[in-house]
Amino acid sequence: MPVVIIVGTQFGDEGKGKVTDYFASNSDLVVRFQGGNNAGHTVVVGEKEFKLHLLPSGIIQNKKSLIGAGVVIDPKVLVQELENIKKINSNPNLIIDPRAHIIMPYHILLDAVHEESRGNKIGTTLRGIGPCYAERSYREGIRFEDLIEESRLREKLKIIFPIKKKVLECSYGKEVDISLEQLVKEYAELGKKLKQYLGDVSLLVQEALDAGKTVLFEGAQGAFLDMDFGTYPFVTSSHPIAGEAFVGTGIGPKQNLKIVGIVKAYTTRVGSGVLVSELHGELADNLRKAGNEFGTTTGRPRRIGWLDLVLLRTAKRFNSLDEIVVTKLDVLSGLDKLKVCVAYELNGKQVKEVPALTSDLEKCKPVLKEFKGFKIADCKSYSDLPKEARDYLEFIEKELKVKISMVGIGAERNKILNK
Ligand code: IMP
Repeated sequence: MPVVIIVGTQFGDEGKGKVTDYFASNSDLVVRFQGGNNAGHTVVVGEKEFKLHLLPSGIIQNKKSLIGAGVVIDPKVLVQELENIKKINSNPNLIIDPRAHIIMPYHILLDAVHEESRGNKIGTTLRGIGPCYAERSYREGIRFEDLIEESRLREKLKIIFPIKKKVLECSYGKEVDISLEQLVKEYAELGKKLKQYLGDVSLLVQEALDAGKTVLFEGAQGAFLDMDFGTYPFVTSSHPIAGEAFVGTGIGPKQNLKIVGIVKAYTTRVGSGVLVSELHGELADNLRKAGNEFGTTTGRPRRIGWLDLVLLRTAKRFNSLDEIVVTKLDVLSGLDKLKVCVAYELNGKQVKEVPALTSDLEKCKPVLKEFKGFKIADCKSYSDLPKEARDYLEFIEKELKVKISMVGIGAERNKILNK
């Protein structure tokens, strides 16, 4: 398939990095189209573990890796990630769209003061993502094209910086201890380091498609962190659903494509917001430990829940999923019994899709179906999986009416079984 889009179907952290790495080997280009360094992908290759926040996962295999206009870039983080990747790949094949917005230090400060001053904390990653996207909408953003040209950067910051400084100091009492000139100098320096990667991602992707090349779109976060369709306001500030692959890259949606949803075998979420199938106590602690469910970006413990088919049915609709990949099945190994949330109970009735009204969603209780547990030893193929594990997977497939193409049973690259 010329175009493959990989998206998270839950609240992020579904294990997209490993699956993207797998698909990247058959792709010519790998594109990130939304989010920023709030994302965290861990890819394990042999003994080495790579934590990527901004670079597309294809960079590990030295695929042409592109950062589209819909991504927000913290240039300090990007420069650091490039330094790390240069240890295995001296000449990273990276292209950055000039229209992508830049996270500035005042965005990070604004993220913190907004969180502090809000009664209901979202639990953001405090990476400045929300304020950067907000200022893109206000048309007060700094774009990559500004970062790489000192005079443009200075002219823009001359207008924008005093406003941000005033807001931070006067409205929030937060001292901004950097001068305009220091800011321009520091960021122009970062711009110089990154300028070599400038390219029109929209045009390059279209040209690659016209030339018969294959393009992989790598989503960050997950469907229920979508700014509109997620559990607002406990969401991120971009669109982690498949439609954004086109908007955030600048190509049209009429493509010959396959959309792959990544489903973790249970549910996790970081930060606040509804989690209908949430577990507490020892069971949650054990699963958190077994799955190493601590944020790649912030190290925060993730909340844990049973697999939630209501979320997944809705994620299928938001994304037009063609197939799903179930990850981290091994984490459930060893439980005597496990449960799946098959529906929500709302006002005495069962619902099978996520209610559009937040006030309804907040009232939902999980309807759980119990399954026999299983132990996963060293399986080389799908048929090696214990029958109970296959029953669990085939139930998901039947309920969602979407095929499972692969199953992840461990962190390493080869721990992925074709179904
Ligand atoms: P922000 O994206 O930093 O503004 O955070 C908004 C919400 O999205 C918070 O609940 C974060 O924990 C969550 N979030 C953002 N990125 C990720 C991710 O990559 N995985 C999981 N949660 C995320």
